Amino acid sequence: MTNLTKDFFYSLSQNKLLNESAKKWGFKFGADKFVAGTDLNSVTRTIKKLNRYGISGTVDNLGEFVSDREEAMRTTNNIIRLLNRINEENLDCHVSVKLTQLGLDIDEQFCIDNMRKIMEAASKFGIFVNIDMEDYSRYEQTLRILQTLREEFENVGTVMQAYLYRAEEDLEQLKDVRIRLVKGAYKESEAVAYQSKAEIDRNYLKLAKKRLLGDAFTSIATHDHNIINELKAFIKENNISHDKFEFQMLYGFRTELQYNLAAEGYRFCTYIPFGTDWFGYYMRRLAERPQNINLIVKDVFYD
Ligand code: FDA
Repeated sequence: MTNLTKDFFYSLSQNKLLNESAKKWGFKFGADKFVAGTDLNSVTRTIKKLNRYGISGTVDNLGEFVSDREEAMRTTNNIIRLLNRINEENLDCHVSVKLTQLGLDIDEQFCIDNMRKIMEAASKFGIFVNIDMEDYSRYEQTLRILQTLREEFENVGTVMQAYLYRAEEDLEQLKDVRIRLVKGAYKESEAVAYQSKAEIDRNYLKLAKKRLLGDAFTSIATHDHNIINELKAFIKENNISHDKFEFQMLYGFRTELQYNLAAEGYRFCTYIPFGTDWFGYYMRRLAERPQNINLIVKDVFYD
């Protein structure tokens, strides 16, 4: 895929008008393959199905870049409702949140207050909360909020993006924190991030190995079988306990590989997005993977 096509989908993912309009459209362009329904009942069914195969979930009540206080508070309550559901149904899963869905772009303290409400509910039920990492303009704020929350709560962690030059240094500061390691999904400048796949992959492997030799839990989040295979060999060679890490992939991606890794005895966790706010999430997936664009073509011409 050309950089132009990538740029096109990245810019769509951040277009506020389209993100808003898409909430009313229902799923389009094949998004239902990657989003587990619009409501709590649909996502509950998906989690239960995965749990039956020994796969846990990290559930994302979709939403981002919220600029309205009421909406951020509604989202906070929806996430608390999700936590209640996980507890009531004893589902094997935790939650993933984005700080911009909780009002980060409105006011940092307001966002912390919303996060605190979520953390209180999650702590009561013993559920882990992951703060997804968004684009670099929110990176430092996200790490600062994580540190604030960690003064009160243990069950919170975040994501590190291997495309960032500073990832290794920052992971040193996060040695005791549960981390999901990803390559990075946003379009960042070469002032802050590696641009080539080879450099990003090299850094990913370096950081993953360092984490696996450390003490805290790591989620190895990638669909890249070359990386997964190299890490499986590393884990075996170094006798690393399977309790110290898990593999993670997105719902709808490489499903067979997900089931295979779980069947081989690795801890496996699927990232499960749900809700009406699917547009930005889906456009980023299209920017990453050209093959998915076929789904749009099928949806537009054959549905
Ligand atoms: P990449 O896209 O580089 O693919 C590598 C190779 O793997 C491909 O060349 C192909 O051979 C194979 N492959 C990949 N997908 C395939 C498919 N569907 N079918 C067949 N082969 C395939 N990002 C972020 O910035 N913040 C975040 O919080 C998160 N959170 C997150 C959670 C989880 C669970 C995952 C898996 C990913 C994220 N990401 C993320 C996204 C992440 O940063 C990254 O953009 C995508 O995972 C794409 O990179 P990959 O590592 O999957 O491989």
